[in-house]
Amino acid sequence: MSQTARPLALVTGASSGIGRELAKEAANHGYDLLIAADQPEIEAAATELRALNVNVDALQVDLSTTEGVDRLLAALRGREVEALFANAGIGLGHAFLDQEFEKVRKVVDTNVTGTIYLVQKVGQAMRARNAGRILITGSIAGFMPGSFQAVYNGTKAFLNSFSWAIRNELKETKITVTCLMPGVTETEFFERGELMDTSVGQSKKDDPAEVAKTGFEALMRGDGDVVYGLKNKLQSAMANVLPAAVTAQMHRGMAEPGSGKE
Ligand SMILES: NC(=O)c1ccc[n+]([C@@H]2O[C@H](COP(=O)([O-])OP(=O)(O)OC[C@H]3O[C@@H](n4cnc5c(N)ncnc54)[C@H](OP(=O)(O)O)[C@@H]3O)[C@@H](O)[C@H]2O)c1
Repeated sequence: MSQTARPLALVTGASSGIGRELAKEAANHGYDLLIAADQPEIEAAATELRALNVNVDALQVDLSTTEGVDRLLAALRGREVEALFANAGIGLGHAFLDQEFEKVRKVVDTNVTGTIYLVQKVGQAMRARNAGRILITGSIAGFMPGSFQAVYNGTKAFLNSFSWAIRNELKETKITVTCLMPGVTETEFFERGELMDTSVGQSKKDDPAEVAKTGFEALMRGDGDVVYGLKNKLQSAMANVLPAAVTAQMHRGMAEPGSGKE
């Protein structure tokens, strides 16, 4: 990894979707990149990002494990992370009792355990030099009980809450923590999460580039959170006032297998 005068952004889940677009935003704003994902496609993302004339290092690593996160930290080779995008995450549809527990565990380990371990390690280094920006990809899904995606929504409720909590803990420092809360976005998420036969899987979705732009700008401003788009803002405002039984039923309508047209 060559040293440059450019600041470094670390982006997880950068091989596709929102993370790939967050990495593009960072590169377009003059950041060198360390990007990570679990599958070999991360190399194709790196090749694309190098065309933006920044240094890009890529690591294929399973971030659901602490060993994987340690490998990512080692790949920093002592460089300071100016901006951390803790974005890697996976969904999982179907009724909880019908899900394979290994897949359930992977959702929790990726979205929660791996994410907070990475945030803690990078955050400690940021605190030591009193500088840095952290973006955590939560979700508006965290505002409602996720019938037929119960564990995923729980992980996102965790991240939404966690993000605000550590932001408060760091309020006397120059480190900012921003929670990006996308709504339904056109990525590989629904295919991977076995949600394609659902109403939400079949619905019109937001552009990941627009979502990432909104998130990047919020990070640069140091905002506490950001929801992309008016429809999503309305949906989260409603979810915050409606009874949980009502929002759980609404979520059933979106995520129950067979609720989509296909
Ligand atoms: N799409 C939506 O509607 C939506 C809405 C709200 C929030 N979000 C959140 O946005 C984030 C990005 O998702 P996306 O929608 O962009 O979906 P995506 O296209 O499926 O991207 C997910 C990224 O996370 C990586 N990843 C997953 N598990 C990993 C693991 N164990 N180790 C390392 N990397 C891993 C994937 O890499 P590999 O392919 O290599 O595994 C991929 O790069 C997630 O946190 C998701 O929960 C998405």
